[in-house]
Amino acid sequence: MRRKLIAGNWKMNGSKAQGLALVEALAAHCREAESTAAAFDLLVCPPFVLLPVIEERARRAKIAIGGQDCHPKEAGAHTGDISATMLADVGCSYVIVGHSERRQDHREDDALVQAKASAALAAGLKPIVCVGETQAERDAGQALSVIEKQVRNSLPAGAGSRVVIAYEPVWAIGTGLTATPQDVADVHAAIRAMLQSEAGEEAAAQTRILYGGSVKPSNAAELLALQDVDGALVGGASLKAEDFWAIACASVA
Ligand code: 13P
Repeated sequence: MRRKLIAGNWKMNGSKAQGLALVEALAAHCREAESTAAAFDLLVCPPFVLLPVIEERARRAKIAIGGQDCHPKEAGAHTGDISATMLADVGCSYVIVGHSERRQDHREDDALVQAKASAALAAGLKPIVCVGETQAERDAGQALSVIEKQVRNSLPAGAGSRVVIAYEPVWAIGTGLTATPQDVADVHAAIRAMLQSEAGEEAAAQTRILYGGSVKPSNAAELLALQDVDGALVGGASLKAEDFWAIACASVA
């Protein structure tokens, strides 16, 4: 019922040439394995400046593109910021909001993340709302309560299944450490249960919950086979076409 979404977050990496080469390599895989590629949704989220560079090639290969952040306002005097409307204008269909790197580096809180997600919906984009606990919070036994608070306060009211949630334990990002399948299953089930009580059975059943944090070809199949894991948000491994493609293929293995 829920199509798997395999999303690549390039973070602050890549040149025009590298971005194009990466999308071209992914497009070649999609062409060569058409029926496999039709079984999942592929998304790449490059730095803003590379969006217009890769848009046409991605569109032709049916690879969606998305931003890594957006401003809550549609336009105005906000130097250095990019609005959801602008992202939609250059061909995006998704935008990541509330990534832990932005929550940390830019002190973004749940209220701001919620405003950004609302702006994304208003612009016709699907927000990928990121949540996840730090190592200290997990050690203190607070992982689920932290995540539940983030989900409750970061999701726009009435969003239904138009949002995607990404569970990314902060300590697993870029560290090579991955949450155990049992931990991932527990957190995803808790998020699904929350959605059921807040958004209703139907919206909860249709909402995709991604896992992110050191996803790689060697662990993707096990994580993506879990009942409530509806895809992956991939950082480092999404910069290598072979690895990203292998992760996507593992979602339908
Ligand atoms: P890594 O896959 O590099 O751990 O990054 C995960 C992430 O932050 C994706 O948004």
